[in-house]
Amino acid sequence: MSANDRPVGQPNSKTHDSAFLKACRREAVPHTPVWFMRQAGRSLPEYLKVREGIPMLESCMRPELVTEITLQPVRRHKVDAAIYFSDIVVPLKAIGIDLDIKPGVGPVVAEPIRTRADLARLRDLTPEDVHYVTEAIGMLTGELGSTPLIGFAGAPFTLASYLVEGGPSRNHENTKAMMYGDPELWADLLDRLAEITAAFLKVQIEAGASAVQLFDSWVGALAPADYRRSILPASAKVFDAVAPYDVPRIHFGVGTGELLGLMGEAGADVVGVDWRVPLDEAARRVGPGKALQGNLDPAVLFAPTAAVEEKTREVLDAAAGLEGHIFNLGHGVLPSMDPDSLTRLVAYVHEQTAK
Ligand code: CP3
Repeated sequence: MSANDRPVGQPNSKTHDSAFLKACRREAVPHTPVWFMRQAGRSLPEYLKVREGIPMLESCMRPELVTEITLQPVRRHKVDAAIYFSDIVVPLKAIGIDLDIKPGVGPVVAEPIRTRADLARLRDLTPEDVHYVTEAIGMLTGELGSTPLIGFAGAPFTLASYLVEGGPSRNHENTKAMMYGDPELWADLLDRLAEITAAFLKVQIEAGASAVQLFDSWVGALAPADYRRSILPASAKVFDAVAPYDVPRIHFGVGTGELLGLMGEAGADVVGVDWRVPLDEAARRVGPGKALQGNLDPAVLFAPTAAVEEKTREVLDAAAGLEGHIFNLGHGVLPSMDPDSLTRLVAYVHEQTAK
């Protein structure tokens, strides 16, 4: 049976007993599993080489290239999971939103979404819209063997911020103006994005992804009461839509110390934590029944090895009593990071936690 015929609820048997999936399920692990957000990308010379002359969004639509880039950090660092090479704006591009990813800037939207009439531009996403994703994941699961593949999508709030602002934003002022000023339009926008996001995650799971991560990178800009009222229903809709599949659901954001409990409540099996809250305190905020992912400050990787090891030890010590722990950075790999420091970090965590 091919991965595409895998019925809902039947796990991918090759990856089922991996350390990563066991940790997500809060089962005993042979060692703490490690992967890095943004592990595929500009910190790797082999990435820069294969991407040369190919615009970011175009590279996301070439299955052979996606497969190669996704595998690069697995080969080099021996991480415990691969993350599918793409970007959070790919499903929006796929339904016809005019946007581009500008190097050094990020996603830029030609005509921002600001009015009810603009909502009509957010049509449903079908598997045919992203056929290259299904193709690439089919190739990848063959190559990866027992190493799990993490699929991902942007969460409704973070996608809305790019769409409403028209690009990256520090204060999210237009986004918040809509959220506070026209709550009905806001709710409808987030609901639309939840449907598109859920459809995109389903494509990845049906193609063979073993876990999914919802990136709500910028939601830390909100207070808990606003998160509960204006964001949680849409993110919960995404998690509910993929609940029937037997794959762990990871929920991540930056600066979300005050939101960790609510982000778990939205339906995650694993909550991602940035470096601002120690994992033992994060576990108290999230409550029982969930694994945690994190949370070394990415900037620590610029310090000498002894300091990296000391700070890593602190993370592992804080994680000692957790039900399940997946080691990661508190946010993505930075482009100027020395890849060798990441390889050493994976080996160090494996060695320190080997049972
Ligand atoms: O290895 C992986 O984690 C998979 C690849 C991945 C990319 N983007 C590739 C990428 C993932 C998971 C993302 C998610 C993403 N994209 C997020 C959520 C994660 C986070 O960091 O919080 C966000 C907010 C985006 C939007 C986005 N796309 C930004 C802010 C940027 C950086 C702009 C820049 O150039 O500094 C991008 C572009 C992007 N996405 C690149 C890569 C490898 C760089 C483009 C290039 O290499 O030319």
